[in-house]
Amino acid sequence: MSLRFWINLVITVVVAGFAIVTAYILVGDLKKSINEEIEAGTRVTVQLLETVIASSQEAAEGGDEMAALAMFLRDAGRVRANEIRLYDALDNLIYESPPSVYKQGRWAPEWFASLVRPPLPDVRLELPGGTIVVTPDSSRSILDAWDELKWLGGLLLAFFVLLNLLVFWLLGRFMQPLQSILAGLSQMERGRFDVRLPEYRLPEFASISHSFNRMAQALEDSIFENRRLALIAQQSSDAIIIHDLEGRVSFWNSAAERMFGYWASEILGNSAMKLAPPEKQDELRDTLDKIRRRERVEHLETTRLTRSGELVDVALSAAPLVDPVSDEVIGEICAMRDMTEHKRMQQTEEALEQNRRLTQLIQSRLEEERRNIARELHDELGQCVTAIKSIGTAISNRQDGTSEETRKNAGTIVSVASHIYDVVHSIIRQLRPSALDHLGLSEALREVVAAFQSRHPEVVAELVLGPDIDGSAEDINITVYRIVQECLTNVIRHSQASRVIIAVSRDDNSSMGDALRVRVQDNGKGLDVPDASASSRFGLMGMRERVQAFGGSLDIVSGGPGEGVMVEAMIPVKQPQAETAELT
Ligand SMILES: Nc1ncnc2c1ncn2[C@@H]1O[C@H](COP(=O)(O)OP(=O)(O)OP(=O)(O)O)[C@@H](O)[C@H]1O
Ligand SMILES: [Mg+2]
Repeated sequence: MSLRFWINLVITVVVAGFAIVTAYILVGDLKKSINEEIEAGTRVTVQLLETVIASSQEAAEGGDEMAALAMFLRDAGRVRANEIRLYDALDNLIYESPPSVYKQGRWAPEWFASLVRPPLPDVRLELPGGTIVVTPDSSRSILDAWDELKWLGGLLLAFFVLLNLLVFWLLGRFMQPLQSILAGLSQMERGRFDVRLPEYRLPEFASISHSFNRMAQALEDSIFENRRLALIAQQSSDAIIIHDLEGRVSFWNSAAERMFGYWASEILGNSAMKLAPPEKQDELRDTLDKIRRRERVEHLETTRLTRSGELVDVALSAAPLVDPVSDEVIGEICAMRDMTEHKRMQQTEEALEQNRRLTQLIQSRLEEERRNIARELHDELGQCVTAIKSIGTAISNRQDGTSEETRKNAGTIVSVASHIYDVVHSIIRQLRPSALDHLGLSEALREVVAAFQSRHPEVVAELVLGPDIDGSAEDINITVYRIVQECLTNVIRHSQASRVIIAVSRDDNSSMGDALRVRVQDNGKGLDVPDASASSRFGLMGMRERVQAFGGSLDIVSGGPGEGVMVEAMIPVKQPQAETAELT
């Protein structure tokens, strides 16, 4: 039943109640006033009759008193609302007042008359020759009251009908917005969240409209956000799975399809337990227990089974799925990343790191070996050569009859020994630049460049040294030294250059932090690219390996003829493992 019907019904009941109460009070009042009116009328009538009786007795003067009285009564006619009857001594009716002509022929309904009729008795006036009976007749007064009541009732009915019509119309008019609100709600129920209500004039409906529109906007936004999140989840490169606390899957994205080989349609509603290999079942149960306790699982490295029975390494993160209404944990949102490729990369990186350390170790062992050989050459061969040289000198200086030829041969031995000595010292310098040990990198570089310059005066060698290049670890110094040595050898062997610049500086702001920059640039014919990669060449390769062993980089830039080759090495200075390179 509609609201309008109910409101009209309430109005009807209230008006009917009011009408009944009013009628009750009215009937009581009417009864009282009719009673008073009739009583007063009867009293007046009786007084009048007593006067008439006295007058008729005088007029009769011994004649027929009753006839005179009847004549008087006939003249008086009907007195107020009373019927007057005259009886003789034998109770014969001599006279009866005429019936009332007021509203003649009409009567109030008997039920109403009985409600308001006053209980007034007849009044009997005893005469010497008969009796006068006065009967109060309230029927006219009751009819008046009835008419009045009917008019009032009609008025009330008209008012009631008008009121109902007015309320019905007003309600219809003011309830009109309800129709559009209901239409909006039902549209929303069907999933149309873009529906909006207009501005209403009535403030109550205007505020409903505002609230509705705000709610619709919030719903639309959240649905858009949900769709966006669902799309992200669907398109994520990680497998995203949602399942309840028993493991029944309710969401399975395409990355999960690719990773595990099950189509969403195959696995939805089934248990996610089958993804865990037997040895990981306990771990899976532990994860679910954590989720039940509202804890998260972050980056758990584990394995899962694909459809074909292969094991796949995954990193798993899981969070509880909470019902927003009941605030209870109802499931788990689980994201898994395939770590196979990552692990492979990690293994490759580890292998590379191991190679790097191995190279560093080999280089340091090589340097040590060179140092030993240099020491041996210096201590053993150097001493022997010096001894030979002094013996030869002594023989050649002898004046005690030694033949000229012997002295000459001794002189030859001295010069050969001197040559051997020089060669040995040169080899010693090559093997182990002693300046590096005693004077530091700058001095060792100056020495090697000076030696190069004296051996090859046709090439101008320029050495540019920056500040703070000394004081690095020993193996870094040796690496710098060997790079410069190899570059200068290459310049002489391959470049046909007339000029070479060797620059060593410290760059504490490079991409690899604090580093030594070694740059050797010539103005020769440039690099022949295929030659550089020839497998029988070790110079450039060795340089690269040495530099990479420290985590540095080596760039070789070749220009055209006349622009030469530029070799640039960057070697990080703070290399933690540099000094304690050990194979792990
Ligand atoms: N400064 C340079 N100018 C021109 N070409 C060069 C220069 N340095 C190197 N090259 C070219 O690069 C090649 C590789 O050099 P690398 O030092 O690796 O080997 P190599 O000098 O030939 O032999 P080794 O193994 O004895 O050093 C050389 O054969 C040469 O052709
Ligand atoms: Mg070389």
